[in-house]
Amino acid sequence: MGINVKEFVIDRVKERDLPQLMVIENSVFVSPWSIFTFLEELRHNRLAHYYCVRFQGQLVAYGGAWVVLDEIHITTIAIHPCYQGQGIGSLLLKKFFELARELKAKEITLEVRETNMPARHLYEKFGFKVMGARKNYYGDESALIMTATLEVDNDERQDTRY
Ligand SMILES: CC(C)(COP(=O)(O)OP(=O)(O)OC[C@H]1O[C@@H](n2cnc3c(N)ncnc32)[C@H](O)[C@@H]1OP(=O)(O)O)[C@@H](O)C(=O)NCCC(=O)NCCS
Repeated sequence: MGINVKEFVIDRVKERDLPQLMVIENSVFVSPWSIFTFLEELRHNRLAHYYCVRFQGQLVAYGGAWVVLDEIHITTIAIHPCYQGQGIGSLLLKKFFELARELKAKEITLEVRETNMPARHLYEKFGFKVMGARKNYYGDESALIMTATLEVDNDERQDTRY
């Protein structure tokens, strides 16, 4: 039997989560961030919002974003390999759309490896469109810049799709 998505709980990432978070980071990214980068983000970056997803007390996914004026920039999103394809990436994206609505942001942007088709499909499903590219951004590969524009209604900037 599959896991009910309601069993996944979204929470803020805390420093004590970093050992579990780093296990995922090191298993899904070719060039993982170091624990010090995450510590710096959590301790000193006032623009940063990091969320995680817990399942039965275990951290199984996380995502981060910077809020810069009226734009939200997603810095990372990663799901434990055993938990991919179960709607957790979608759950985290919904959280970022919720944050965008709360802060009345106009758009959400991110960079994605050109060949990362699972991630590109996920973002496209949420209305992100390719707006440009950064050549050799990852050294070995280019990044696509993808943006989702939030709908604006009567001066209330709001996305009504999700
Ligand atoms: C990309 C990633 C975040 C997707 O998260 P996920 O929890 O597996 O995604 P979901 O289960 O919410 O799937 C949502 C949509 O994403 C797309 N998707 C997810 N996995 C996919 C795959 N293996 N192949 C193609 N599309 C895929 C589909 O469009 C899917 O919608 P559908 O179920 O209606 O087909 C996850 O695979 C991951 O952590 N990858 C490694 C790290 C990474 O690449 N992060 C992104 C950096 S930009």
